[in-house]
Amino acid sequence: MMLDPFIRADEVLDQKWDSRALELELEHGNGGLLGLVSRVGSAGPFRTLSPWELEDPGGHRTLNASGYSALPFGDGYPPLLEFVRSYLEKNRQIGLPQQSVTPWRAALETNLIRLLAQFAPSHADSRVFFSNSGTEAVEGAIKFAKAARPRAKHLIHFSKAYHGKTLLSLSLTPNPSLQRGFEPWLIPTVTLPFGDLEQFKSTLKKLGPDNVVCVLLEPIQGEAGVVIPPPGFLRGVGELCGKYGIPSIADEIQSGLGRTGHWFESLAQGWEPDIICLAKPLGGGLTAVGATLMRDAIFKKLLGKTNDVKRHSNTFGGNSLAMAIGLKSLEILREQNLPERSQRLGKVGLERLLNMKERHPELLAEVRGAGLLLAMVFRPVVGTKWLPIGGQIVGELTGLLAQRAFYQGGVQLNFTLNVAKALRVTPAMNMPEELFEELLLKLEHTVERTKTAGRLLTGTSRAELLSLGEYVLKNG
Ligand SMILES: Cc1ncc(COP(=O)(O)O)c(C=O)c1O
Repeated sequence: MMLDPFIRADEVLDQKWDSRALELELEHGNGGLLGLVSRVGSAGPFRTLSPWELEDPGGHRTLNASGYSALPFGDGYPPLLEFVRSYLEKNRQIGLPQQSVTPWRAALETNLIRLLAQFAPSHADSRVFFSNSGTEAVEGAIKFAKAARPRAKHLIHFSKAYHGKTLLSLSLTPNPSLQRGFEPWLIPTVTLPFGDLEQFKSTLKKLGPDNVVCVLLEPIQGEAGVVIPPPGFLRGVGELCGKYGIPSIADEIQSGLGRTGHWFESLAQGWEPDIICLAKPLGGGLTAVGATLMRDAIFKKLLGKTNDVKRHSNTFGGNSLAMAIGLKSLEILREQNLPERSQRLGKVGLERLLNMKERHPELLAEVRGAGLLLAMVFRPVVGTKWLPIGGQIVGELTGLLAQRAFYQGGVQLNFTLNVAKALRVTPAMNMPEELFEELLLKLEHTVERTKTAGRLLTGTSRAELLSLGEYVLKNG
């Protein structure tokens, strides 16, 4: 068999492989996922017209409100790129420091803790462990908590949570379609209804607080479709954990560092967690940085004594390039006051979404938001009594068709992992005002044109519908 020649990096840089990228990925990568997005029409590859605008191979321009909260400045934000260029030219520090010190890692951990201590002074002597993704930041948090409470048996987490897909994080992400086939879990889990403080209290009593390793939750659940807990819930969970000495862990991977309008959503809601997981925006949309921030006493239970200091480590976490990008990203977030901007733009965005829902309740069942973490929940495209398929599959089909309609209307949105009939709107926190207004107008036009969920279905050609239906039935 004649193999294609080896693909050279320069050729990719010169866009010589753009036209074959989808075909190659379908063959050698996650073909199922790409099959899905290509059915929606949004497989790319995309060219960036600016950090906030994309163009597909057919010349269709879209505003990017996707990026899963990991693009705080959009794609390729010039000040960040310029800084990275200077880093590559001037930096003489080693790239993978591991057991030696570098000013990049030292500076980022110091800034993160100083930022945290500004809102929670008792964290002034806290520490940071760096990793390479959100799920790894969560895994680290649980491992540190378990080291602090080795005899405890249960992990408490909440319905519709999302904490990642590696096995320990997956055990804490109670979505049957993701968890199917992977049990039993390494550490037994107890799933409680998100927002129900009374049930949390009675469960602690039933299990016995000493048997609980830790309590893990997102202050706002992103992959559930931006679910905000009732007032007092987070504070109550924090107080009960404090009372019994159970480490409480805030997964701020999606909510943290400004997207919801606050540096730390947990602290803004009166909950002072013992451990905080960060990732997505810390990489500036350029690289992956996971960070687990925690109280000194918890850190030292795993990495304290001389004999123990190698019990948790990784090769790439804390590498100098990632730390430099993290440091610069934090600086841009701070100097441009992006949490405050996110809050201001998000308020306008939510008002406009509420207005759309009011005018078209047969399309939009619900809209929700905190800062620039916004969500639209759609009515099902078809009642399950008309089709012999389950609600989950109808939800998948609804999300796909809605995604497709908005893409055609010029906006890229995020799928939502735990509630498929919801799409999230998460533009860059620094999106220029005129583009943000254009984004809202495009959302309004698509909603106006579609009017009812049923129209998402009837407005789709038979062939496209069959293709989507086949995908959903096979994978739903
Ligand atoms: C709240 C939350 N936790 C954890 C993760 C996992 O992060 P990663 O995809 O970087 O592993 C995500 C990703 O969406 C998330 O939203």
